[in-house]
Amino acid sequence: MRSLIDIHDFSVKELDDLSATAGDSIENPDKYAEACHGKKLATLFFEPSTRTRLSFEAAMLELGGSVIGFSDAGSSSASKGESVADTAKVISCYADIIAMRHPKEGAPYVASQNATIPVINAGDGGHAHPTQTLADLLTIHREKGRLDHLTVGFCGDLKYGRTVHSLIAALSRYAGIEIVLISPEELKLPNYVKFEVLKKYNMSYREETDLENAMPSLDILYMTRIQRERFADQAEYERLKDSYILTPDKLTVAKPDLAILHPLPRVNEISVKVDADPRACYFKQVENGKYMRMALILKLLAEAEKSSEKQSSKGDLLVNKIVCKNPRCITSCEQELDQVFKWTEKENGICRCLYCETKEIVTERKN
Ligand code: NCD
Repeated sequence: MRSLIDIHDFSVKELDDLSATAGDSIENPDKYAEACHGKKLATLFFEPSTRTRLSFEAAMLELGGSVIGFSDAGSSSASKGESVADTAKVISCYADIIAMRHPKEGAPYVASQNATIPVINAGDGGHAHPTQTLADLLTIHREKGRLDHLTVGFCGDLKYGRTVHSLIAALSRYAGIEIVLISPEELKLPNYVKFEVLKKYNMSYREETDLENAMPSLDILYMTRIQRERFADQAEYERLKDSYILTPDKLTVAKPDLAILHPLPRVNEISVKVDADPRACYFKQVENGKYMRMALILKLLAEAEKSSEKQSSKGDLLVNKIVCKNPRCITSCEQELDQVFKWTEKENGICRCLYCETKEIVTERKN
């Protein structure tokens, strides 16, 4: 069964096809108005969200389908202790497709391994958020006319900002991308993104702490909120929360055709005075997100109809040999899950948790 857990689950051609479908649905909404008639989307949101959940719901309603679900863990059986695997099995009996958001990294992957319907990762902890990436890609494409040969600056919380991790992974597929990482020391991009994406795909990147320094070179500026809910130490959040605030005067040195993106919600990292600047694209990005989610739902439902085979990728895996040490990983709270690691650099003994990508070095071969 085809799901979208990580942006790399889709080829570049598939991403292009999604953009084409999204474009067509903008031009010809009537053609899509009944496309999902009789189908149900389940939105399982174990973490607060307004825009992503409503974007999924609006997408399904625009396709003539219907929606069931919950919007906080307290109103689901998770509060009674139900596992993600069981929830996925149960919801498979009620709906045709699942969109899941969860605070634990890897939870939507667990759901996809247990559901008999497609699962869409709508954000897992600080790990990944591939459908926001679909919105970002369509926005970049519509604003710049291309997805290659661009200098893209990411600014703010690059450590916990899952949208950043997924967009960098998507951009690794395109030629001539220069990445500029602008963050405080404490909120730098996690090593797994640096090693598994930037270095692995030979992407050109540099790190900065100063937004003004980076500004003149940028074609895209991707601003992010400091992710208060992921900080173990709230005093550290207070210290870092105002690290970057984009104001009109900071944009005087920017390119005239810069595109400013932000996944939203905005706290105060972009002054509302910037909204009137034609380079501000974050509200268009919201709209693009709905059209990309429509295209995604259509694609996954069509593929589910064609095949009911269970996805199996247990090739080069270490099962129950190593325990993941990431306290935010889904395996830290669902004790009966297999501990699964995949080799990423077998020659150097390096493997990563299949759920959250935390690294482990194996000195003595355990398989
Ligand atoms: C993002 C998320 O949930 O990661 N928002 C979203 O999807 N609309 C960004 C954020 O919460 O800062």
